[in-house]
Amino acid sequence: MSETVLDVRDLEAGYEPGVPIVRGASITVDRGEIVVVLGPNGAGKSSFIKAIAGLVPITGGTVLLDGRDITAAPAHTMVRLGLAFVPQTENIFPLMSVEDNLKVSCGILERRDIPARIEEMYAAFPDLVRQRRTAAGNLSGGQRQMLAVARALIVHPKVLVLDEPSAGLSPKFVAMVFEMLAGIRKSGVTILLVEQNAKAALAIGDRAYVLAEGKDRHEGIASELWNDPVVAELYLGQRPSHVGKGGAA
Ligand SMILES: Nc1ncnc2c1ncn2[C@@H]1O[C@H](COP(=O)(O)OP(=O)(O)O)[C@@H](O)[C@H]1O
Ligand SMILES: [Mg+2]
Repeated sequence: MSETVLDVRDLEAGYEPGVPIVRGASITVDRGEIVVVLGPNGAGKSSFIKAIAGLVPITGGTVLLDGRDITAAPAHTMVRLGLAFVPQTENIFPLMSVEDNLKVSCGILERRDIPARIEEMYAAFPDLVRQRRTAAGNLSGGQRQMLAVARALIVHPKVLVLDEPSAGLSPKFVAMVFEMLAGIRKSGVTILLVEQNAKAALAIGDRAYVLAEGKDRHEGIASELWNDPVVAELYLGQRPSHVGKGGAA
């Protein structure tokens, strides 16, 4: 039996009173899954996961993490509750070394466990150990995302939530990021992933939702959604590159 880790029901959220951006969106994420959220630009994907992470005011609906209601939990308590959010940008401290970036992410760990946990992150991300003394701002785009993900993973979250980790990266680093996420999932981590890069995200995902106008409009097995005509329709006006091209990237 699958076990639901994250259960988001009828979520409504927005930045200003009376202007809903997320309008009744529902998703579930089971333990060990990668769930992908796709959707056209401006669909509300970032707002949706930011609201889950406590960063956009919620006006309706519920967010349950391992059965616990975290709907009203402030953002700074999320890590302790087990939800680690990696924003699309500004997800590392560029002037600090790689190692210090990791150290400052260990707040909820027992002090005596920190050195070993940092070594575990280095073992999982060998690129980072070579650059442990480097200022994070000097890393390549792909390595930066690696560091951002390592910072989130270091505290053993119940669910890792990522906003477009491949955005703005060159193709080589895009591939690196998706390989990294597939590897993390293999190690048993549960992932909620928002992506523009639909093809690559569906290739590593288990299930996916398409969000449009702040609502979940369609849901399916990740590998089947790529050629799903409903998905193409939901992207109308702003189609992902594959639509109508028989699956070419
Ligand atoms: N900080 C903000 N303040 C007010 N409106 C915002 C803010 N961020 C996003 N929005 C609005 O919310 C809508 C959805 O944006 P967003 O969640 O970023 O969509 P997506 O991530 O799917 O591209 C857009 O209309 C956008 O203008
Ligand atoms: Mg976005």
